[in-house]
Amino acid sequence: MAAEIREQPEAAARLLEEVGGRIATGELWNDLGLPRFDRMRVVACGTSLNAGEVIGSALSRLGGLGHSSVVASEAAGSVVEPGTLTVMISQSGETADVLRALEEGPQGSPVLALVNNVHSTLGRKVDAVLSCAAGPEIGVAATKTFVCQVIVGTGLVISALVASGRMDVARAHRLVNDLYLIPEQLAEAAAAARALLPPLVEEVRGAKGFLFLGRGAGVAYAAEGALKLKEITYRWAEAYPAGELKHGPLALVEEGTPVIVIDDDDHRLAGNIAEVRARGGRIITIGRPGSSVEVPLSLAAPCGPLAAVVPLQMLALGLAVELGFDADKPRNLAKSVTVD
Ligand code: M6R
Repeated sequence: MAAEIREQPEAAARLLEEVGGRIATGELWNDLGLPRFDRMRVVACGTSLNAGEVIGSALSRLGGLGHSSVVASEAAGSVVEPGTLTVMISQSGETADVLRALEEGPQGSPVLALVNNVHSTLGRKVDAVLSCAAGPEIGVAATKTFVCQVIVGTGLVISALVASGRMDVARAHRLVNDLYLIPEQLAEAAAAARALLPPLVEEVRGAKGFLFLGRGAGVAYAAEGALKLKEITYRWAEAYPAGELKHGPLALVEEGTPVIVIDDDDHRLAGNIAEVRARGGRIITIGRPGSSVEVPLSLAAPCGPLAAVVPLQMLALGLAVELGFDADKPRNLAKSVTVD
């Protein structure tokens, strides 16, 4: 897992070299041969679902189109409106819940698979396939595939918006330039986390439960941070949009409860942080200057605060190591879940 976290800047750079030049021209989308769509429905599980949430929210933010994210095991009953593109995201392309959702029918909606292996079962059964090209990922806890799914999925959104005349090419070029900054941002985030996380990990090693908070595009990254922590440290971790705190989860906060906040400078976070501090919670901020772990974030970035995921992954890994667990072989879990 440590190696795969370290590889992320390189994997992102490789991916951008492959697809970056085809985004603003609309080719990335046009080459898939799919019809124009008016809304997106993501179907996935676990980390791939979190990536789908980032991609869907980019579609809404950048293009004003609606999106929904559906847990694959619950997709059967969900309504698919006309004009919907279904995007099935799966690192392995072999996840039984996703394949079952495909069998049960996306009701006339064309299906695009976003996979790490285009020759996987999912990749072979859909209308079009796009690779996240992360290279082999061995660790059960997905890391570099998440980063690559987010990048290529966001690139796809920009490309589809240009191809359908909903975004002008100049804006698309500016957004693609932002994507090209990602490898460097991931590397900087890793360096900051390496320097600043160890004492924080030591401090929270005895905690039984963790809260992860974000706002806007940060919510999906908070969810990913909580998932990583659960998977490899066996500690309870909940992720919430920060505004939900006062609607329930604030009751969980007591003296020393670690509350990790993706702080991308949304002014509303200050109040949430103050509420936690007033109850003795241990706030750890990840993001803008002055945070516990500063990472380069741009508020307007097409992928939202993507670089924040690196310290979140490293927090989970650092705590797992501190507690003596094997992060590469978390109990009860498999890399590819081929049963439902
Ligand atoms: O291969 P997939 O992307 O379809 O896998 C989906 C989930 O099982 C997977 O993301 C799982 O949540 C990971 N172990 C998360 O780290």
